[in-house]
Formats: sequence, C-alpha cells, structure tokens
Amino acid sequence: MIKQIIFICLITFALASDFTSQQYQSQKRSSKLNQIWNEVIKNTSSAQFPSPLGLLVESMSPTLEHVADQLPEGRKKMVHSVGSVTKAEFIPEKNQYTGFFQGADSLIIRFSLAKEPDYTHPGSAYAHDNFVPAIALKFLIDGKPSANIFAMHGVNGVYSYNFFDLDFNNHIPPPEGLQVTVVADKFSQGTKIVQFLGLRTFSEYTQDGKPVSNPNFPYMLTFKPYKQIKDLFTSDYTQDYKEILKKIPSGTLLFEVFETLSPTQTCKQKIGDIRTTSEITTSYFGDTELFFQHQDFTHDLEVHPEWEPYTPFWNIIGSKSAKQKEAKCPFSNLFI
Ligand SMILES: *[C@@H]1O[C@H](CO)[C@@H](O)[C@H](O)[C@H]1NC(C)=O
Repeated sequence: MIKQIIFICLITFALASDFTSQQYQSQKRSSKLNQIWNEVIKNTSSAQFPSPLGLLVESMSPTLEHVADQLPEGRKKMVHSVGSVTKAEFIPEKNQYTGFFQGADSLIIRFSLAKEPDYTHPGSAYAHDNFVPAIALKFLIDGKPSANIFAMHGVNGVYSYNFFDLDFNNHIPPPEGLQVTVVADKFSQGTKIVQFLGLRTFSEYTQDGKPVSNPNFPYMLTFKPYKQIKDLFTSDYTQDYKEILKKIPSGTLLFEVFETLSPTQTCKQKIGDIRTTSEITTSYFGDTELFFQHQDFTHDLEVHPEWEPYTPFWNIIGSKSAKQKEAKCPFSNLFI
C-alpha cells in the first residue's frame, strides 16, 4: 500500500510541469517550447493586477539570479502582471554577432503593461505614466537554460494608447516621478544598473546548445514595430491591446531588430526580424508562472569594460551621471 502511494507520488511528480529542474533544462528547445506552450494555452483567462505595494516587500535577487522558465514557488509578478504570449522566431540578416543573433526558431514573447492601466480618459494625452508597454523575450536553447531580455520605451510610457507607438529598447531613459523612482530603488537592491539589461547570455550558445568560442554581442537592441502592426492600434483608447493582439495571425512579422554596436558607435544596423509562429494569447500561466530572468548588465561590462563610463549606476537620488552616448550616426535621429 505504502509502496503504491509512493509510486503514484513519483508519477505525479514526474508529470507535473516543472520548468526549473535540470531534467527540464537538458531537453531540446522544441520540447521545452511545447511544454511551455501547453501550459500557456491551458487557461487563457488573464490574472488580476496585484496591489503595487506588494513589490516593496519582495526580495529582488530572484529576478536576477533565478535561472528557470518558471517563477520561484510562492512568488508573484508584482509588475507586468497581466499580458499576452506568443511563440516566435528571429530571422537573422547578415551580422557579426554569435548565438541567438545567427538565428532562433524557438522564442517565447510576452507583451505586458508595467502596471494596471486606467482607461477612464481615452485621449492619448492620458496614456503617459498610465499605459506603459513592455515586451519580454525568451530564447530557448537545446540542453541549456534560456536567455531572456526585457525591452520598453521607458518606464513612464508614451503619449499614446498604441502599444506599438514607439520602439522597444533594452536600455531605457531614467525614470521620472516618484512612483517609478520607488520601483527603481527597489530593483537596485538586486543590481545598481537598473536602466540597462544584458545581452551577453544571448551570444554564448547557438540554439542547438553549441558553446560559442568567441561570444560577440551588441551594446543595445532595438525592436522596431512594423508599420502594419502599429496601424492595427489607435493612439486614443478604443479597445484593450490584448484583444487586438488576438487578431494577429501566426506567421506575422512584428519587429525589425536593430543593434547598436557601442556607446560611441550608435548607428543602428538592422540584424533581423521577429515573426510570430503562433497566435498571441492571454494566459493565466503567462501571467502567474512564466518567468523571464533579468540579465544583469554587469556581466556585459566584464567583457566590455570600456562601456562602463557610459553606464548609469542607480543610487537613492537617481542614477549617477554617466557619460552621454556619442551620436555618430548621421541617420540616428530617424529613431528618436
Ligand atoms: C482559469 O483561471 C481563472 C483565473 O484567472 C480561474 O478563475 C478559472 O477558474 C480558471 N479556469 C480553469 C478552467 O482552470
């Protein structure tokens, strides 16, 4: 009898989805993608936004140190709590970078707002500091933990309810205003670099899990929404963005991807496209369990110490002044 119970427990344990174990990480990317996606589509209800104060009592280090595709047990998404999820691929153009940058067919992308939007005033002027779009991207690798990145225009959002109004970058300007400053202060308990996220882990393995001998990654990435995607949305509020995302079919080009070489060579070059490989769905699992690790920019600085003078380090009264990036690209104003 006891033996039977133990046996049943073992089976249950083996079947329970667990996106943190070594057994999970060692699998092929296609298998990991399928397992994540099965969870994503199990329940397509959205979660609720939590009270924003909850963030302040949470420890920040798991956000940086937890290596898994699932949140640590008992942890809640205090920001970016509600969103939509898709499968996607990165189709590279000729570029000098390694790993992800040479092609990735197993991506998970999540679209979310940093906080609960207030749609009471539909005019686009009311979107600023209210409607704050962000994307998170997960690059699945055979036999290795995934690499993850977040990109936003900024933590104060834009003067538009169009989710795709402006470009998404993994470097963001300093936060303005008390509310987001408090969040940056909180995040700075984990790392002193709160405005930049790292790309190094994207360069170290190909999607087949082959280690790269000389990893090469850019300073910054920019995701530029395709016009036909942007045109699906309006700058005044008409409908929640998650409902519009549901209408985008699998196989749609979403973003052109641009690299910035270094803080002193800021001419953006196109390195590829992001295309969906599924529908874009709301998801209870996506909102409550799916985890995108923040990769600390400190690791990028270990490879590129010459970038450090341009890096803003956060302290309690805001970011310590960094050297301004030098705009040497004649067309760089195209992207501002
Ligand atoms: C789906 O998740 C919601 C929470 O958002 C829950 O209320 C509902 O019962 C779930 N449905 C199923 C079928 O599990």
